[in-house]
Amino acid sequence: MEARFAPSIGLAGSLAVPGDKSISHRAAIIGALADGTTTVRGYSQAADCSNTLDVLRAVGVRIEVGDGAISIIGRGVGGFEAPVGPLHCGNSGTTMRLVAGALATSPNAAVLTGDDSLNKRPMRRVIEPLTMMGVKCQASDEAGHPPLTVRGGRLDAITYAPPVASAQVKSAVLLAGLGARGVTTVRELVPTRDHTERMLRLAGIQVSSAGPVVSVTPGVPCAFDLRVPGDFSSAAFFITAALMVPGSAVTVTGVGLNPTRTEFLRLLERMGARLEVTENEGDAAHEPSGDIRAESGPLEAIDVSADEVALSIDEVTLLALLATSARGTTTIRGARELRNKESDRISGTVAGLSAMGAKIEETTSGMVIEGPVELQGARVGSRGDHRIAMMLGVAGLAACGETIVEGWEWTQISYPGFGEALSRLRKASP
Ligand code: S3P
Repeated sequence: MEARFAPSIGLAGSLAVPGDKSISHRAAIIGALADGTTTVRGYSQAADCSNTLDVLRAVGVRIEVGDGAISIIGRGVGGFEAPVGPLHCGNSGTTMRLVAGALATSPNAAVLTGDDSLNKRPMRRVIEPLTMMGVKCQASDEAGHPPLTVRGGRLDAITYAPPVASAQVKSAVLLAGLGARGVTTVRELVPTRDHTERMLRLAGIQVSSAGPVVSVTPGVPCAFDLRVPGDFSSAAFFITAALMVPGSAVTVTGVGLNPTRTEFLRLLERMGARLEVTENEGDAAHEPSGDIRAESGPLEAIDVSADEVALSIDEVTLLALLATSARGTTTIRGARELRNKESDRISGTVAGLSAMGAKIEETTSGMVIEGPVELQGARVGSRGDHRIAMMLGVAGLAACGETIVEGWEWTQISYPGFGEALSRLRKASP
């Protein structure tokens, strides 16, 4: 399926984005490991998060989907049933890696598989620590690709230093740590998103954090009630559109503002972006949220470091797009992890934006972008990657002439209705 974008004369208005994907996955998984019934309002309707629910159902977790809320009837740590067939995680790396950690607490064997993209992604990063904990965990090949077999049971606590900055790896180890004998510790290269730690605490589990070092004490989470804030990574597409399309002012309401997710805003401020952030009062205990207003205006080039990339990993394609309209040379370094996402996002971003006339070059671990350049409409491809599709759709609004994005159906992975939400903000031609 393709989507067509005509140049926009500006975007105006406000919108609320759907529930955060990372928090939704964790609510379902921690709810499934809990004792009692967990209620989650605003659970993401993204295809990735539906996959997590289906995988949990296949190991015996009862999940009821009601009006605006889902209920998860927990089975407790170690309580998952043996699945009848392979567990299909679709396109979702978060589902596969976090569920692998949760399954590690149960003695039954399970096989986790995915679509063509997921079955090419690296799983050694979770296999290594889980094996150290005593889990029988195997990939389909030497390179560590899924399908992944996990057979858990009584686990040993470990102290683990992942070789990549990854919240998925940290979370897999912490979830497995719930069923270990002793305190499990993860020492990260840089502190990544901390939704798992926050939610485990909400569920009564003892979790201590000191900078990049996080420890979990084993135990069974207590069921909890949660409202999922809007997804910051989805909001980032509208913020980018508002900053790039002249004559725009857009407010995204009820967005998650967890500081381990919002590095993108700090980078935008360095670029001189016109932003206003208003934090909601009263809900900071679990996950802070609030409104973000973005207004178009001139932008300056910046240098983005490896640590900053790790904290804005899902927004880096948008930084590259914004850099095409910023004055000067933007250099993004230390972003090699982007090649391990749903697609190689460095090469997909460079191919798409180059086709639109951007001055952008690929390096081994990043991109160099010269601006400002007026983008030209072109036929471009999503490469089967939801974030590349949406980034190119936003580029289409800022370009001259028509842009056609092929593979638009991939937007369902994280944001069903994204195209319609973008259209609703377009100002009507005079
Ligand atoms: C996620 C962590 C990140 C991110 C992904 C969601 C999570 O992946 O890119 O979209 O929910 O933990 P990595 O842990 O592989 O960096």
